[in-house]
This record gives sequence, C-alpha cells and structure tokens, in this order.
Amino acid sequence: MQTILIVDDEKNYLVLLEALLGTEGYETLTASSAKDALEILRNSDVDLLITDMKMPGMTGMELLEECERLKPDVPVITLTAYGTIEMAVEAMKKHAYDYITKPFQNEQLKLTVKKALEAHRLEKENRLLRQALSDRFRHGMIIGKSKPMIRIYDMIDKVAQSKATVLITGPSGTGKELIAKSIHYGSTRKDGPFVTVNCGALAETLLESELFGHEKGAFTGAIAMKKGRFEMADGGTLFLDEVGDMPASLQVKLLRVLQEMTFERVGGTRTIKVDVRVISATNRDLRKEVSAGNFREDLFYRLNVINLEIPPLCERLDDMPLLVRHFIEKYSGEQDADKIQVSQEVWKVFYNHKWPGNVRELEHIIERALVLKTGQTITADDLPRELRGESADFEVERFIPPDVPLHKALDTIEERLVRRALTHCNNVQAHAAQMLGITKSLMQHKIKKYEIVI
Ligand SMILES: Nc1ncnc2c1ncn2[C@@H]1O[C@H](COP(=O)(O)OP(=O)(O)OP(=O)(O)O)[C@@H](O)[C@H]1O
Ligand SMILES: [Mg+2]
Repeated sequence: MQTILIVDDEKNYLVLLEALLGTEGYETLTASSAKDALEILRNSDVDLLITDMKMPGMTGMELLEECERLKPDVPVITLTAYGTIEMAVEAMKKHAYDYITKPFQNEQLKLTVKKALEAHRLEKENRLLRQALSDRFRHGMIIGKSKPMIRIYDMIDKVAQSKATVLITGPSGTGKELIAKSIHYGSTRKDGPFVTVNCGALAETLLESELFGHEKGAFTGAIAMKKGRFEMADGGTLFLDEVGDMPASLQVKLLRVLQEMTFERVGGTRTIKVDVRVISATNRDLRKEVSAGNFREDLFYRLNVINLEIPPLCERLDDMPLLVRHFIEKYSGEQDADKIQVSQEVWKVFYNHKWPGNVRELEHIIERALVLKTGQTITADDLPRELRGESADFEVERFIPPDVPLHKALDTIEERLVRRALTHCNNVQAHAAQMLGITKSLMQHKIKKYEIVI
C-alpha cells in the first residue's frame, strides 16, 4: 500500500483529502504544520508528499526544500490557493512534481496523485535496474581469468574513473562491446545513458544525422527535428562501434566534436554543447588504415588516448573452461547446467580449434550443442562438422614463429602444457603435477614463473 503524507494548516482540507485518498486505497498520514510533517518524513516511509504552500511558521516551499534534502526520491505535489500560481511555478522549479489549485476537482486530484506515484515507481525501478546492471557489468558479465583478461580488468577499473577517450581493438567476437559497457557501468557516469552507434552500418549522410541529429527540413524527408546520438548520450557514454568504417568527411566532423564537445545539428546553426565520454571500437588495424590513408591520423590519436587491446580467444585458452561453463549456464539455466558434462574429446577439439569468430563463435557452438545433445553430456557429435574434422594435434608451428630461440619456444610450450594440466585438474596443483610427472614444488615454481592465476 502506498503512503501519502498530507500537510495543510486548514483542518477542512486535511479531512477532505484524507477521505478522498483513503477511498482510493492509499494510506494517509496528516500533519497540520510543516514542522510536524518533517518529523513524519524523517521517521516513516512516505511515497508522496502533498503540501499546502501558505502555512504559518515554516512554509510549504521550505518544507519542499527540506524534503528534497532528506528524501530526494519522494515526489511532492503542492496545493496552491487560486491566484498564487507564481508560487506553484517556483515550487516546480524546485523539483515539485506537480501542483493543484484550491479548490480542486476530485477527479483531477486523484489523477495527479496517480501520475506522481507512477512516475516515482518507474524511477525507483529504473534505479534498481541500473544498479543491478552496474553490479553485473563490473567484470561480472565478462568472463575470463587469463593473464590478458586480468590486465584488461585492471585497465577497465582505471579508465572507468577518468573521462579519457578509449579505443577498444581486437578481432570480431572478442567482447569489445561488453567491455565498453563494463567501463560505462563502472564509471561515475553509470546513471547516465550508454548510447551505441554502429558507424559501419549506415550510409554517410544517414550516419551524420544519426550522430549529430538534424533540424526540421534539413533534407527531403526530415519532417521533424531529430536529436542525434551525441545529444542522447549527454551525461553518459557514446560507444562508436566499427569506428574504422567511418567515412572520411565524417572523420573531420567527429574530430571537431571530440576536441570541443560542440556541434550543430544537420541543417542547423545553433551550437550544441554536450558532456559525453567517447569509447570506440574496431576490429580493423587502425594504424594500418592511417598508413593507407583511409583513416585520419589526428582522429586516430584523439580516439586512441587509451587503448584496450583484446586478444583473440586462441591466445587465452585459459578462459575456455569458464566461458564454456558460463554459456552452458546462460543457455540451460543455472540448475540444469550443473548436470551437464563436456566430453574429453570436445575439450580436445576446443583447445585445438583456431576460433576465428572468437567468444561469439564459442557461444553459438555451445548454444547449438545444448540443443543437439541427447544425454547430459556434450559430445563431439554435437559439434559442427568442420570443427570435428580438424586435426586435434597440437600444432607447434602455428603458435611459435620460426625465428624464436629454442629456450623461449620451449617455455611457450611448457606454459601451455602447465596451464592445460591445471585447467583439466580443476586447479588442484597436486593432481596437475602428477599428470605431468613432476613434483608439487616444481609445479609451484612453474605457476610462479608463468604468472598463472589459480
Ligand atoms: N569475456 C567474455 N565473457 C562473456 N561473454 C563474452 C565475452 N566476450 C564476448 N562475450 C560474448 O560474445 C558475444 C560477442 O561479444 P561482443 O559483441 O562484445 O564482441 P565484439 O568484439 O564487439 O565483436 P564485433 O567486432 O564482431 O562487433 C556477446 O554475446 C558477448 O556477450
Ligand atoms: Mg561489436
């Protein structure tokens, strides 16, 4: 039941409002002075405050200010005598939700109260949702414990605190968008919007109006003013996905916006100023694009203040078991996931596949296997044919370039084998040591040497 606090020095109004709102199913509390109302506000859970403006002693306006300070979430409706609308307007400026003039129509009052409570409920719900999301994205949704991923978590924490422009690079499907969101939800801007633009998906002119908006009549078809993504992201983060695909003419415009944080809508003359953090991502090698003359060098340096490079999945196979578990849980529900096994043969295929589509490819393969599997175990039969057909042998040549000194090459192989053994033994060091035929203390030494996170 929702509780409404009614404040008025005229007893008649208190009685009237109490009766009216009581029959609507609300719980009501009453106070005949602002001072008493404050006492109630401090000690009870109130969902809405309705207050008269003119009262002896502390005024309604002062009560409104105090309420804003004590309980900023509680919406306020002011009651204003006919002819003192200016006061109501003043109150609205101080965050009152709405005002009602005395004498009022019952139906109008009920409607205003209903709307205020609804707006309050939505705001509360949204805040909780954002909070849940911000908890989830603080690495919570990014899975991985490999050395490169731990370094990325550190970087995410560091850059989240600043407003620095971040460029996320890495092959397709490595989680660039996920990481961009994680930076946003870990930052002080987390309650602001996270807005995405895919710079590769739109034609040049459409992209321009998508980014900066347009005025009514700016071009044929521009029947109304439209805000651009930069404006929508004000106070939050703008994620420029596939930024490497941005046409040259827009690169110049983007550079100016990044430098000055001001722009004009297409067809407009008014300069608009925004406060936006820009994170961009690309799976292209932007340095190469700069050398080839396809991407402006000055823009590259603007975007690349901080670079987060996400390595392909085949370079962080340590993450494999966690990712596989995560996707099994994601697609079968947490309870069923406990019962689902993965056959040794499947692990072998997973460790030897090149993963050109990276984590996204793995996600699709798990989703598909869960549909196809017959028992509780995912077997090689549940994998796509091209994966099953691949050689399951460890290809030294693929991972080690020909000019690497032998001792380094052997270290690389040793590190892989130690990591694999640990993964297979659920990180029980004694078992992994036994599997590799080495002592436990030598195992500990290797773990330290290769900085393996257990
Ligand atoms: N480390 C990770 N942990 C959990 N899920 C991940 C991880 N990396 C990627 N994913 C999942 O893989 C899918 C692809 O990720 P995302 O869209 O972020 O990749 P991307 O790098 O932006 O790819 P592209 O360059 O193709 O746009 C998403 O469903 C994402 O949730
Ligand atoms: Mg992406």
